[in-house]
Amino acid sequence: MSNNDDNKVTHFGYQQVPWQEKQQRVAGVFRSVAAKYDVMNDLISMGSHRVLKRMTLELAGVRPGQKVLDLAGGTGDLAIKFSRLVGDSGQVVLADINASMLQVGRSRLTDRGYAGNIEYVQADAEHLPFPDNNFNAVSIAFGLRNVTDKDQALRDMTRVLKPGGKLFVHIFCHRNLTYLFETEGESNWMGRYFFTGGMMPSYDWLPRCADRLSLEDRWAVNGTHYGKTLEAWLALADRKRQTLIPLLEECYGAGQGKLWLQRWRMFFMACAELFNYGDGEEWFVGHYLFRREE
Ligand SMILES: C[S@@+](CC[C@H](N)C(=O)[O-])C[C@H]1O[C@@H](n2cnc3c(N)ncnc32)[C@H](O)[C@@H]1O
Repeated sequence: MSNNDDNKVTHFGYQQVPWQEKQQRVAGVFRSVAAKYDVMNDLISMGSHRVLKRMTLELAGVRPGQKVLDLAGGTGDLAIKFSRLVGDSGQVVLADINASMLQVGRSRLTDRGYAGNIEYVQADAEHLPFPDNNFNAVSIAFGLRNVTDKDQALRDMTRVLKPGGKLFVHIFCHRNLTYLFETEGESNWMGRYFFTGGMMPSYDWLPRCADRLSLEDRWAVNGTHYGKTLEAWLALADRKRQTLIPLLEECYGAGQGKLWLQRWRMFFMACAELFNYGDGEEWFVGHYLFRREE
């Protein structure tokens, strides 16, 4: 690390924090939820994130024998699917900055019999430990918004792709605004507890940042799908209250279950409003398919 890096600051919400500290704070958020991430993710999205991920694979055209990187892959949802597509002659690398997420992913995939063609690598998207021109496809689903230096991450993803290789990105977007989540202040608990250190990009933001990548296609998946999911989750959370409280205590600490259940309930209500707003055309999930230029 250079002196320059030591002195660099970045946004954590609207707070200025040292560059390194932001990574540690983001890592802390995911470390605290790793063990229950899939349960939470399914409960949060009622499984709709899995439908969206299937879409990626249909678009991916990943073939047997290919090499695929699932970056910020968390507990390996996409890696499982890529593993089936590339088969025994191919290889999938599940990479994440967070050791706890990877550990949960490894146990989950191993328990399900996915062993031969998956490798697990703890890696920061900004400094990928892979050679140039190495992968046929790279995917990053719901991970880019947490990366501190997004330009650097995009450059590194491009570097490790083979010429002609594909990059898939899923990211929550706003129709035309890019903004950071505030963490300071009484009313900003959403930024502080749920979108810690994150940003909301505009739908146009990503293609503008992607050098040496041609945008082949993009899809805005209407926000009302996610809005319905959030409303259904709220109903489910209320029905499963007694099951959820101990789970939340495991994630957030003893005595924190009820408080966090209420925070999650408010999160679902507020996000449902957000994604349903303007018939789902204001905030939505952006899916992007890029091709690395030759
Ligand atoms: C919302 S989860 C998404 C996980 C998975 N892709 C999915 O769709 O279920 C975001 C993931 O990004 C990882 N992450 C955050 N910053 C990262 C970075 N700089 N490099 C690699 N992974 C990162 C987190 O550890 C977490 O596992």
